[in-house]
Amino acid sequence: MNTQSPDTTPNAAPFDAHVGAHGSAAVELSEVNYTYQGIERDIHALRDISFTIAAGEPVAIIGPSGCGKTTILNLIAGLIAPDRGEVLIKGRPIDGPRHHTSLILQDYGLLPWKTVLDNAALGLTLRKVPRAQAHEIATDALRTVGLSEFATAYPDELSGGMRQRLALARAMALEVDILLMDEPLSALDALTREELQEVLLELWRSQGYAQVLVTHSIEEAVFLGRTILLMTPRPGRIRTVIDNPSMGSSLYRQTPEFYEKCATLRELLVKENGRARGEGS
Ligand SMILES: Nc1ncnc2c1ncn2[C@@H]1O[C@H](COP(=O)(O)OP(=O)(O)O)[C@@H](O)[C@H]1O
Ligand SMILES: [Mg+2]
Repeated sequence: MNTQSPDTTPNAAPFDAHVGAHGSAAVELSEVNYTYQGIERDIHALRDISFTIAAGEPVAIIGPSGCGKTTILNLIAGLIAPDRGEVLIKGRPIDGPRHHTSLILQDYGLLPWKTVLDNAALGLTLRKVPRAQAHEIATDALRTVGLSEFATAYPDELSGGMRQRLALARAMALEVDILLMDEPLSALDALTREELQEVLLELWRSQGYAQVLVTHSIEEAVFLGRTILLMTPRPGRIRTVIDNPSMGSSLYRQTPEFYEKCATLRELLVKENGRARGEGS
């Protein structure tokens, strides 16, 4: 992770703090600005966002509602283009959605009239992979996320946690090297949420993609972000970069370091909310 112009707190990551397993940057945003053009007025959503995500690096983004987190994911996914600045994927300017990037939305984007297997294969069939081959790959992906038994069921027959697994299977079938997730676990109950956090950790470990997880949960950010970006209210900027090197270590959730990181992040968020209410800096 490499960012420009965050606060220099003791927890701020140094430049080039992480070089992922493959050495090269998966994602680079430099001086990115984005404005939504409205009928009444324009909304300046992002201001001068700069950061780099190494190949295989897991990043969490946390910040107040409306600070531009979803906008950042859409930019990295190539669904929208910045007004100013650049988004590079593996060193090249992005010019639209790409095969090996997957964006999992809050509602999971499942099609209720298609079976679990067809939903898992959807990304492949949209990319014109022959059906038999798509099913073969999707069957493997369902096994990876523990949903093999439900291949012929429909999304309505699945629990929230299982739907989330299915959305992950769809991404796995695409052999993603960049996985983007927009508050993926926020609709789940607390225990299912923790279980899915473990699933996300295991998948990331075994598949090695770069990951950007947008979350409102402090614990989730600390559990799943080796680097945590804390954003300011709109227009969103990166306020602080928190380095979390023990993320992914065994039983991290039970360690004093985990609690300390959560406390640090909570403190920074409270300070940020105070700033947003104009209580000084
Ligand atoms: N399609 C849109 N048209 C106009 N304004 C938008 C649109 N999408 C988002 N915004 C505004 O841009 C800001 C950033 O939005 P978003 O990226 O969704 O924030 P977050 O995901 O952090 O809640 C918000 O103030 C939101 O109201
Ligand atoms: Mg959002």
